[in-house]
Amino acid sequence: MSSQDIPEENLPAAQDHAHGEVADEQHPFADPGLPPHEHRVQDIDEKAAKRSERAVAFLFTLSMLATVGFIAAFVAIDHDKSVYVFPIGHINALNFALGLTLGVALFCIGAGAVHWARTLMSDVEVADERHPIEASPEVRAKVHADFKQGAKESAIGRRKLIRNTMFGAVALVPLSGVVLLRDLGPLPEDKLRHTLWNKGKLLVNMNTNEPLRPSDVAVGSLTFAKPEGLEEHDEEFQNEIAKAALMIVRIQPDNIKDKRELEWSHEGIVAYSKICTHVGCPISLYEQQTHHVLCPCHQSTFDLSDGARVIFGPAGHALPQLRIGVNDEGYLEALGDFEEPVGPAFWERG
Ligand code: FES
Repeated sequence: MSSQDIPEENLPAAQDHAHGEVADEQHPFADPGLPPHEHRVQDIDEKAAKRSERAVAFLFTLSMLATVGFIAAFVAIDHDKSVYVFPIGHINALNFALGLTLGVALFCIGAGAVHWARTLMSDVEVADERHPIEASPEVRAKVHADFKQGAKESAIGRRKLIRNTMFGAVALVPLSGVVLLRDLGPLPEDKLRHTLWNKGKLLVNMNTNEPLRPSDVAVGSLTFAKPEGLEEHDEEFQNEIAKAALMIVRIQPDNIKDKRELEWSHEGIVAYSKICTHVGCPISLYEQQTHHVLCPCHQSTFDLSDGARVIFGPAGHALPQLRIGVNDEGYLEALGDFEEPVGPAFWERG
């Protein structure tokens, strides 16, 4: 149905939208103006307007149901279950359900908004002249008035069914994102602050897999150690060794400048975290004359004879030291965990 088919008395009051002007010296191109406005069937037929309103509300309601379906699928469908979908074949059922429901939820919000705008909101064409970009009080007042007019013409206050279902649909959709956060895995809690080291845990040579005795650590050598019981085939090996790996060196006690370092050592054998405090690379270079260790990633250098303080490079703080001793059987053992988080300084702020 077009406005030509509608009796004259049913049409809304005529509006003059044509601004045609003839060309002159100042405006060499004539403004053709706007074509005559065509009324939609919803403008003159309240039943058609109601039908459109129900269609929009249906789409928003469908979006809400799809969001609820998304959450239900996430909770109920087994992660390993597969389903046959023509023509794709067998795919993961959970991924399929999540994609389908989220897609329907978003599509229905978009389709509802478009249908609302096309059939029920005012479609009066408006011509606006260019004007200086200056927000004068008059302009602000006009914008305010236009905004209020737009809100009035969208009928958001009058058509409560649409307004309420739209708010419901828009409010529910973000829940999908919140539910997906669950897939990021368990919270780290305080795991990043602790390592496998604890009182009595033996220091095991990473190369030979044998517990270390003081006699195994010679002056000038660099030995890497791990906690007793941590094996390469363990599921958590990479996570744990990334926190617990140690560097062991022997320094003449007289050459140790830091008092606490000397107390935490055993006859000059000191144990420091091997994980660089810059961004976590494993430190591997030792200069035996100066007792400096160098991180190969960005050249941070630490002085192991002075509390492993940073003497060069981007690292933010000294390497954590592990307090060690010797047990009754003569093996090197930890006397507790590190007293500060190992690795990048970021974790100090946690
Ligand atoms: S990770 Fe060691 S210096 Fe950057």
